[in-house]
Amino acid sequence: RRLVVLVSGSGTNLQALLDEIAATGAEAYGAEIVAVGADREGIEGLARAERAGLPTFVCRVRDHATRQEWDTALAEAVAAHEPDLVVSAGFMKIVGKEFLARFGGRFVNTHPALLPSFPGAHGVRDALAYGAKVTGCTVHFVDDGVDTGPIIAQGVVEVRDEDDESALHERIKDVERRLLVEVVGLLARNGYRIEGRKVVIQ
Ligand code: GRF
Repeated sequence: RRLVVLVSGSGTNLQALLDEIAATGAEAYGAEIVAVGADREGIEGLARAERAGLPTFVCRVRDHATRQEWDTALAEAVAAHEPDLVVSAGFMKIVGKEFLARFGGRFVNTHPALLPSFPGAHGVRDALAYGAKVTGCTVHFVDDGVDTGPIIAQGVVEVRDEDDESALHERIKDVERRLLVEVVGLLARNGYRIEGRKVVIQ
């Protein structure tokens, strides 16, 4: 299976996938990363991809006259690598109709909270501010909402009294990286069906 991974930041989830595939072998893992895309230049996630010798692309909203043109350009940049599965690993843009028309049902996102709690760009901060005792991470298919698609797997992380946002986010990411590697491998090796809000992995 061919994976394209989209990043916007440090890319540690991408790195977890790269390390797993290097350790297990693409054959046994069931997938290889064929390209990494980003919405901005100069991020560690792109440097990680380059160090791994992978093709990269950057699709910036401000380079396009409209958001819709950006969405189409992103879809085309991804499609050029003929992915079976697209993985958003900290990609911080909401994709639109064109992208979903082409990759809906095979576009997976990881979110650092237990959806439907705390969707959006500040899930860790929101859980902390709310006083949640447990939070975690969710791997889900992307639909036309924000962090609302069918849930594939979740991992629970306790919130500690002394936590600040970065400490809690690091603890979440430890779980999230393992969950993403496991889920992507399962989807790639076993195949899956989406039935309403249910994901059935064969
Ligand atoms: C992850 O926790 C992801 O869920 C969130 O941003 C973080 C990205 O981390 N959207 P990294 O770029 O993979 O290190």
